[in-house]
Amino acid sequence: MHTQLSFQGLAEIETELLAVFAADTQTAKGPDAKPSPVLLTADKAVKAAAADVLASGEYKAGANETLLLHAPAGLAAKRLLIVGLGKQAKATTHSVRNAAGTAVRFTKPRGIRELTVALPESDLLPVGQVARAAVEGAFVGDFDPDTYRTDRKDQSVQSFTVAAAVAADQAAIKAAFAEGVIIGESQNFARALVNEPGNKLTPTVLGQRAALMAQEVGLGWEVHSTEKLHELKMGAFWSVSQGSEEPPALIVLRYEPKGVTDGPVLGLVGKGITFDTGGISIKPADNMEKMKYDMAGGAAMIGAMRAIALLKPRVRVIGIVCAAENMPDGKAQKPGDVQTAMSGKTIEIINTDAEGRLVLADGLSYAKQLGATHLIDAATLTGACVVALGMINAGAFSNDDATYEKFNAALATSGEKFWRLPVSDEYAEMIKSEIGDIKNTGGRWGGAITAAEFLRVFAEDTPWIHLDIAGMAWVEDSKPYIAKGPSGVAVRSILEWVRSF
Ligand code: BES
Ligand code: MN
Ligand code: ZN
Repeated sequence: MHTQLSFQGLAEIETELLAVFAADTQTAKGPDAKPSPVLLTADKAVKAAAADVLASGEYKAGANETLLLHAPAGLAAKRLLIVGLGKQAKATTHSVRNAAGTAVRFTKPRGIRELTVALPESDLLPVGQVARAAVEGAFVGDFDPDTYRTDRKDQSVQSFTVAAAVAADQAAIKAAFAEGVIIGESQNFARALVNEPGNKLTPTVLGQRAALMAQEVGLGWEVHSTEKLHELKMGAFWSVSQGSEEPPALIVLRYEPKGVTDGPVLGLVGKGITFDTGGISIKPADNMEKMKYDMAGGAAMIGAMRAIALLKPRVRVIGIVCAAENMPDGKAQKPGDVQTAMSGKTIEIINTDAEGRLVLADGLSYAKQLGATHLIDAATLTGACVVALGMINAGAFSNDDATYEKFNAALATSGEKFWRLPVSDEYAEMIKSEIGDIKNTGGRWGGAITAAEFLRVFAEDTPWIHLDIAGMAWVEDSKPYIAKGPSGVAVRSILEWVRSF
């Protein structure tokens, strides 16, 4: 998707489709309170072109509600698309992100390859933030998961233009727009990885894809395998991969900005299970195919590292992805086995399907060994987190309020929804083992929390955040602004958290 900025008057823009945003200004409630849609533009010609249909009451400017006009009078554009942001008082930058995605997803199946989106003009919506969000949303909307369809028609929007008001602060909008492109592309980079099936994207291939990206954007990188796991005594990570013909990959990405030699080192650790059968504690067949997305936490870290490399914050960052395939096999680990993690802690394996925490345990230890002063991990870790929060919020956990507060602030920019759940020593009791130090499951109750407790053992005293994205990494029902499939969740939030240092 080619993207550009325009500061031309809207009426003069020659384009296949001009999209403008509308909001509902009705504040009264009750049966007589009719929606009162207004266009969020000062352009008189656009307003005139839409005046009749807005007056008709047919269009309510609900969130992501669309209305198309052909050959709009007085405009150089061939079509005018109105996209709703919902109630004006509730419309945010995030409504604009989604509405821009809606415009793209409206355009794609109609074979229209060129689209111009007019930024909303509203005092409530800061123009820089909105410019960035609109581009991000356009990239998110442009992604479809149909990679392997032989009859695939590439319907991607070829040319996407953001139109800002002539009088706007052009320098600020340009900078925000450029950021939006990087972030949108990085989120889609992660989504493309998550979309790949287990036979195409093995741990080795994930390592290759990460390395290729690292070379392109100028990150340092290493991809290790079995030997290095043994050398580092990563008994927890290895125990997951030992049952697979596919060797594991320990992917390390390094961002070292010139001249930054002190201050924090951020360790980003991702779960990269390229397929999770459950191992000997095998999963039921129903929906098992979905477990190709069990590397979404790792993909989020790779996507975030790409954006970091291009946006160049003044802080050092290490990205680590622990990639393995969790398989049942004659060599696979068994329930009851005891493993020794890199940190020296011993783990009683109760359920081989609780494998994500095992690979992450050693990933966290390694990040610390490489000098990380702050840790964040992302993982499709537990079904229990999906039970607790559904598919609206991802779970977040932390051992340090100040570090979490930075993450919470980042969410205001990213627009992603995470809900903090507790960790405490009382929960930690639930994973004590009789034969060893800890066990890898804590029983039926509080499953998302006991998984986080397991990781907390390995974060030790280092400030740490854990993101459980099991319910959010895959969009189950398509929305007007995003296809069914990989969501790329956490890329934007992790990036903003990094930039806050
Ligand atoms: N990858 C799964 C978690 C998962 C579930 C991700 C649903 C996405 C959607 C994880 O490895 C797993 O199997 N967790 C078990 C843990 C249990 C054995 C303690 C689970 O949640 O059932
Ligand atoms: Mn599992
Ligand atoms: Zn898993």
